[in-house]
Amino acid sequence: MSHDSSEEPLPPTPPLKRHATLQPLSREHMGGLIQARSLRQAADRERAKRLLAIASFLDAWRSEIRAHFDDEERLLLPLVNSPALRERLLEEHGTLRRLAEECERDPEAVASDAELMRRIGALLHDHIRWEEREFFEAVQRDHPEALAGLASEAAFIEEQRPGSRARHRLGVDEHDTGRNEAEP
Ligand SMILES: [Fe+2]
Ligand SMILES: [Fe+2]
Repeated sequence: MSHDSSEEPLPPTPPLKRHATLQPLSREHMGGLIQARSLRQAADRERAKRLLAIASFLDAWRSEIRAHFDDEERLLLPLVNSPALRERLLEEHGTLRRLAEECERDPEAVASDAELMRRIGALLHDHIRWEEREFFEAVQRDHPEALAGLASEAAFIEEQRPGSRARHRLGVDEHDTGRNEAEP
C-alpha cells in the first residue's frame, strides 16, 4: 500500500460483505483512518496544527483505538488460521502502541519530528487497510460459525464505543464524518 494516498476518499464502512459481528470494528476503522490522515497532513503544517493533530489522535487512542486493538487480539486472533496473519497483527499493534505511548509521554517531541508524525499516520493507515483487505477477510473465511457466536461481544462494543455504532442510529448523515480534520 502506498503512503501517498492522503487525498483518497474514505471507504464506505462497513463494507456490505462484512460479517455482522465484525461491523462494529469495521466502523471504528473509519475513525482510525481520519486520525491517520490528520497526522500525515499536519506533519507538513505549523507546530500548533501538529500539536492539535497529536492531541486528537491521543483522544481517539484513549477512547477508542486502544480498546479496539485489545478486542481484535482477544476476539479475532484465535479465529485466523494463518500464523503469518496473526503475527503481523500483533507486530503492528505493538509498534502502534509504542508510538502512541511516545505521543503520550512527549507530544512536544513528536510534534518536532515531521517524519515521525508521517510514519505514525502511514502505519495506522496501512494497518487498517490491511485488516479490511486481508485479516478480516481471513476471519470470515476461516471461522464464520465462531464469529456468529460472538454477536453479544459485538453488541457490547457498540454499547461501549460510539464510533462502532451504525451512523443512522446516531442520526448522522452518511456523508458527514462529523470531524473537521477529515476535510482535505
Ligand atoms: Fe488492528
Ligand atoms: Fe482494526
